[in-house]
Amino acid sequence: MLPKVILHIATSLDGRITGFPADLELYYTLAAQWNPDAILFGSETVLAAARDNPALEVPPEHEEMFRPPHGLPDPRPLLVIADSRGRVRCWDAIRKWPYMRDVLALCSSSTPQEYRDFLRDGKIAAMVTGDDHIDVRTALDMLNRDYGVNTIRVDSGGTLNSVLLQAGVVDEVSVLIHPFLAGGIPDPTMFDPHKAGFMDLQVPLQLLKSEVLGTGILWLRYSMKKT
Ligand SMILES: NC(=O)c1ccc[n+]([C@@H]2O[C@H](COP(=O)([O-])OP(=O)(O)OC[C@H]3O[C@@H](n4cnc5c(N)ncnc54)[C@H](OP(=O)(O)O)[C@@H]3O)[C@@H](O)[C@H]2O)c1
Repeated sequence: MLPKVILHIATSLDGRITGFPADLELYYTLAAQWNPDAILFGSETVLAAARDNPALEVPPEHEEMFRPPHGLPDPRPLLVIADSRGRVRCWDAIRKWPYMRDVLALCSSSTPQEYRDFLRDGKIAAMVTGDDHIDVRTALDMLNRDYGVNTIRVDSGGTLNSVLLQAGVVDEVSVLIHPFLAGGIPDPTMFDPHKAGFMDLQVPLQLLKSEVLGTGILWLRYSMKKT
């Protein structure tokens, strides 16, 4: 069975997903409401975060408050990173994030053996699907079957978003439009089928809800339009 898949994206009014002061507190507060069992990152998203913050530190000041009392099931989500090319090396830092219960790498048959050994030596669980890249549908099915993931939130850029949309596995697209014109170049974007290798992909959506929040941020939630 496939889990419920939600793409959650913060953008500026001119469609930039980087280079503007996103309201991260609001982003994560809203993100928590789906109570996801897992969060999915694309490798580029992790590498961009690592470039911006080489230590990839999230202040673990009150780390204990995130941990369930001894003996109780851990309600924190699993952090899943799609990385068939084996480029993410900062797993140790990520594993220290107090918001996640554990980490999992998604690999494919083309993932270098050296990287699979690296994951094994670091005791990082890995799941192998697909040939060139990961097969997202199979990976989601396995996450549900083997890790009990019923809801997964995707915090990624337009490449992985497009792959998931192309595979027809997305239930909801959630967009937080900030009152800010960021300028710069239109890359990366929230939807980039060109980078994902699906040149002609277009996705009709149906508005579920719209809300104006806090400092004029527009929260739009869409489902896939039935054709
Ligand atoms: N504002 C926001 O809400 C927000 C949220 C998240 C990220 N971002 C920004 O988005 C940017 C990154 O976005 P991005 O689009 O460049 O990258 P991305 O979506 O984070 O990563 C690309 C992922 O797509 C996978 N992929 C590519 N083609 C595929 C295919 N045909 N089948 C299966 N998987 C495939 C890649 O896997 P492999 O290459 O490993 O095979 C990789 O894991 C960063 O700058 C980040 O800061 C913004």
